[in-house]
Amino acid sequence: IAELHGILENKIATRLEQVHRLKYKYGSVKIEEIKVEQIVKGMKGMATQLTESLSLDPDFGVRFRGLSIEECQEKLPKKRTQPYIESMIWLLLTGDIPTPTQTDLLKKELALRCFLPKYTEDMLKKMIEHFHPMNQLSMGVLSLGYHSNFDKLYNSHMKKSEYWKPMLDDSLDLIAKIPRIASIIYRNSYRNGVTHDSNPSADYAENFGKMLGWDDEDFYEFLRLYINSHCDHEAGNVIAHTSHVVGSALCNVFKSYSAGLNGLAGPIHRLSSQECLRWLINLWKKVGDYPTDEAIVEYAKNCLDSGKNIPGYGHEILRIPDPRFIAQLKFANEMLPDDPLCNLVGQCFKIIPDVLKEFGKVKYPYPNAEAHSEVLMYSYGLRIYDYYTVLFGVARAIGCCINLVWDRALMFPLERPDGITIDSMMKICSEK
Ligand code: MLT
Repeated sequence: IAELHGILENKIATRLEQVHRLKYKYGSVKIEEIKVEQIVKGMKGMATQLTESLSLDPDFGVRFRGLSIEECQEKLPKKRTQPYIESMIWLLLTGDIPTPTQTDLLKKELALRCFLPKYTEDMLKKMIEHFHPMNQLSMGVLSLGYHSNFDKLYNSHMKKSEYWKPMLDDSLDLIAKIPRIASIIYRNSYRNGVTHDSNPSADYAENFGKMLGWDDEDFYEFLRLYINSHCDHEAGNVIAHTSHVVGSALCNVFKSYSAGLNGLAGPIHRLSSQECLRWLINLWKKVGDYPTDEAIVEYAKNCLDSGKNIPGYGHEILRIPDPRFIAQLKFANEMLPDDPLCNLVGQCFKIIPDVLKEFGKVKYPYPNAEAHSEVLMYSYGLRIYDYYTVLFGVARAIGCCINLVWDRALMFPLERPDGITIDSMMKICSEK
């Protein structure tokens, strides 16, 4: 962690100088005009948040510190074909591709921190199993705040320019501990409460997979792909935005991320991924293992005719097939070539966009990440629909926490946009 501090200190100094210039030299430069419809449509298309780790280009998709998913797979230290999660964390945090030694260093650091305080472990084990897994995750994360280093040092009047250091410390704790929380939720709610101990000599993905109860190298490899590709998706999605806003009130990372997780549990944020799998399984039941294209077209048209959507197609930002979807498709082709559900996802990808275009339903009718992720989980035997969003919550902890570290490093202020009444807005519009 001392090495990480040294690297970050230099990078933060450069960025701070740029933020200072943005504030004082270019403060009055207009970058875009706000249209009424953008306000009415949930701030759509308004760039309002400065962010460090990741960019999302509508015509390219996600780039982690400038690198596509494929470039990450090629350049980051890995075990087989998927990079270690630890190497992705290093990249997002510092902007540098870590060496194998640095990856190992972070692996050891996270392993040291992966155990839960007794009160969190006890609280989770006592939770009634019909409490939704996302509520359990949010409460588990929140309970870790009892030992927040940030809170302790903030209360002892630490300098503002130092905030990022305890924020980093707490963030590494949260990232290290969240797989343990998630695995207890799974074992407690769905596997008769028999839990598996943490295994600090394994890497992040393997340790998580083992705690969930899998003894399967391929599943660990899937977890590496899933967690790496879902760990961040730019600052504006609900979970990232929420944790950023709550963090701007100088809440510790546990309160901030717990708040974000409650947003993630919304039916039109990631809870919707369950619907993609349900839709596909219903299709599968109807058309069987080796369907004709015509049978799929007919099923899709019937859905649309009856006023339903095809879940997993279309994205708020992307105008292309989501690269996270493509990476999972490629993974499934290589690792599970005979899996009927995965093959059905691939066949739908060739057919559904044209059906949607014909119906004029979605402007950019391409699959997003959700159209594949949960199918892969299902194929690896993880078949609890309510639990899927928890895995996403584990993955996204990485991006949200790292953004919070940078928020504090760049000394971003309390976020407090203006509100406007409908009457005032009507008045402004009618006078134009
Ligand atoms: C995500 O990964 O957060 C989703 O694709 C939603 C989004 O980016 O808006």
